[in-house]
Amino acid sequence: MQQQTAPRPIVGAAIGSAGAVSRTGIPDAFLPDFWYVAELGAAITRTPVRRTILDQPIAFYRKEDGGIAALYDRCPHRSYPLSRGEVRGDALVCGYHGFTFAPSGDCIAVPGQANIPRAACVRSYPVVESGPFVWIWMGDPAQADASRIPDHSWACDPAWETFTNSATIRCRYGMLLDNLLDLSHESFIHRATIGTPDVAETPIATEVDGLTVKVSRQMNGADCPPFYAKSTGITGKIDRSQDIAFSVPSFYVLGVRIAPAGDTGPGFNAKIMYAITPETKRTTHDFWAVSRDFATDQPWVTETMARIQDAIVDEDVIALEALELDYPEGRVPEVSINIDRGALQARRLIHELIRAQA
Ligand SMILES: [Fe+2]
Repeated sequence: MQQQTAPRPIVGAAIGSAGAVSRTGIPDAFLPDFWYVAELGAAITRTPVRRTILDQPIAFYRKEDGGIAALYDRCPHRSYPLSRGEVRGDALVCGYHGFTFAPSGDCIAVPGQANIPRAACVRSYPVVESGPFVWIWMGDPAQADASRIPDHSWACDPAWETFTNSATIRCRYGMLLDNLLDLSHESFIHRATIGTPDVAETPIATEVDGLTVKVSRQMNGADCPPFYAKSTGITGKIDRSQDIAFSVPSFYVLGVRIAPAGDTGPGFNAKIMYAITPETKRTTHDFWAVSRDFATDQPWVTETMARIQDAIVDEDVIALEALELDYPEGRVPEVSINIDRGALQARRLIHELIRAQA
């Protein structure tokens, strides 16, 4: 009897709109009820700055006590961006007509009259500064529980040395989490920096633990990529482990152990964190912090790793923007294999959360 088989899909024949994706397609709806990294702490000063988070323009500035205020970046008077104003004391003064706002968002002064209209207030956002990051809660402020900020304790620990940077990428946040949860791409996109053939050739183990997706890979007797050869001084083969923990929807930690092949000691350990924060539906902030427990007193190691890390992100940005922008007509059905398991699990969790909030 002849066996019936489904017709083979032809790539390019079934183009859908970017929004018409399956339950495991790349998500792009926002999930406001989570903590997101809004900026690196070092970037927030007494001069207000505007950042767009989940499509909302927000003015950030430092108060006199060093704390951070975050206000919706639009004066209720004539819509001038408050981030173009100036900070006086703890208040933000609109640069157009002088409407003045406390960190709570309450208007505390208007020009030429004592009476302040009740509607002259702006939304303020809960903000927590922890480690190198400024975290913002975009949902109901009453639900802003700082204990829900994902663990990043090593980035606050002086026993680890940490460097940071950021980029804004013209792609959906789902594209970036897809990229980070499948590191087999290191063997191709990052072969000049962090990738060796071992990464793509080594199978992964995955696990879902609540709202965390874990992906791990153990490579023994592997080649040492420039990122670790230059920072550790190892010249021969290495044992290399990658242990990813991705806290849905936005915080990613890659734990890495590097050691000379066969060495059972503690090795060289790094934690590479990426905070994936939607800027708009089609652009994404990528904040990274790289912590290490070796050569912590060697600035040249920091400079070397930071330079290569910037190059790694540049390589990803080129790829991600090609994925997002080279097919304006939409995406075709995807073919997934074992290496995609972690990313697919993350997508599923996010789709479940999107459905739950809807
Ligand atoms: Fe990458």
